[in-house]
Amino acid sequence: MNTQSNENDDNQLPAGIAQLAALIRGIPRRLASITERDAGYKPSPEQWSKKEELGHLIDSALNNHRRVVLAQLEDSPALAGYDGEGWVAVNGYWNRAWTGLIELWTSFNNHLLAAAEAAPASTWARTCTIGGSDPVTLRFVIDDYVDHMAGHLRHIGIDTCDSETAKTGATEYPESAAPAEFPIHPLLARRWSPRLFEEGRAVERGSTLILLESARWAPSCFNEQPFRYLVFDGADPEALQRARDCLVDGNAWARKAPLLMLSVARDAFTANDKPNRHAQHDVGLASENLVIAAVDMGLVAHQMAGFDSDRARREFKIPDGFTPMAMIAIGHPYKGSLDDLDEKTRARELAPRSRKPIGDLAFEGSWGKPYARE
Ligand SMILES: Cc1cc2nc3c(=O)[nH]c(=O)nc-3n(C[C@H](O)[C@H](O)[C@H](O)COP(=O)(O)O)c2cc1C
Repeated sequence: MNTQSNENDDNQLPAGIAQLAALIRGIPRRLASITERDAGYKPSPEQWSKKEELGHLIDSALNNHRRVVLAQLEDSPALAGYDGEGWVAVNGYWNRAWTGLIELWTSFNNHLLAAAEAAPASTWARTCTIGGSDPVTLRFVIDDYVDHMAGHLRHIGIDTCDSETAKTGATEYPESAAPAEFPIHPLLARRWSPRLFEEGRAVERGSTLILLESARWAPSCFNEQPFRYLVFDGADPEALQRARDCLVDGNAWARKAPLLMLSVARDAFTANDKPNRHAQHDVGLASENLVIAAVDMGLVAHQMAGFDSDRARREFKIPDGFTPMAMIAIGHPYKGSLDDLDEKTRARELAPRSRKPIGDLAFEGSWGKPYARE
């Protein structure tokens, strides 16, 4: 790569800026489809896991952000290099949550992008040295930063040049994070109820077990654990088909989900057979655990009341004393382009997400008095 700017293109933005913006839009969703276990796998003691490699990219963003800022503030600054291996070890990336690393990668790259986008055109020919190098222009710093990132993303298994990533502009499939008014946990913000799934990709049994384990650890009244799940993962294709047939036509989209689960409540306490007024509440808690765990693993889940409960009871021999609650469609996030969808489906998936104001849901002291901001 040419390390010096050409006078003719001095005033143009470095190509790396638009590339970086596209990567920030498209890559987090793709990283999120890598499971926690896969991300933590170390091919050998000498090689980085995906967590460590993404961690290295976070370190690179931190160091290069500093360079982009200092090269604007100082004349030909002599900037330090950094010890990539050392930073990865010190930051303990091997032991960090994959979703947290994706959030950091996204935040620091947005931070770097903002500093680069705000730079006046005259900036790009400014020079600096890095770790005793020959002088390089700021344009080179940005372009080289993005090149280096693309190499590591490819190594993680994400080809930044493939058609899917190239399409991440206007046609990007949304992750539809909640436009929350207050800073909620990223896992909560990223949970949503999509109606499309990656075609032909099953949910591994190991992942399904983590979902069920997450549900199992939900709190419940008297620790009764009144939640039950019927699992239809395709291991028994006939059972999966019968579960699909229980869905109402309005939920026909969910017939394409590779995994369906039916949550069921035990209506009475085991100890005394008295009605458990909180059984359905507790099934909801367990299912929310399950759904949030799905987000954590890069899966998507959509709960549904729209199924024929009597039919499900008959088909799956659900005994008296148990109430079918919700069908849950689970799969990997849809990978295709929105361009491939018909108008109605596209509008449905892109519909803005909304919530009632907090004051309509939470009261202060007495019923109906909105809980105020101050
Ligand atoms: C118990 C329950 C039943 C639901 N039933 C359906 C349903 O039958 N069909 C459907 O498309 N969505 C259903 N939903 C999804 C809701 O419509 C969705 O959660 C709500 O619109 C908020 O959107 P979000 O989950 O993307 O935040 C259900 C959700 C819950 C929790």
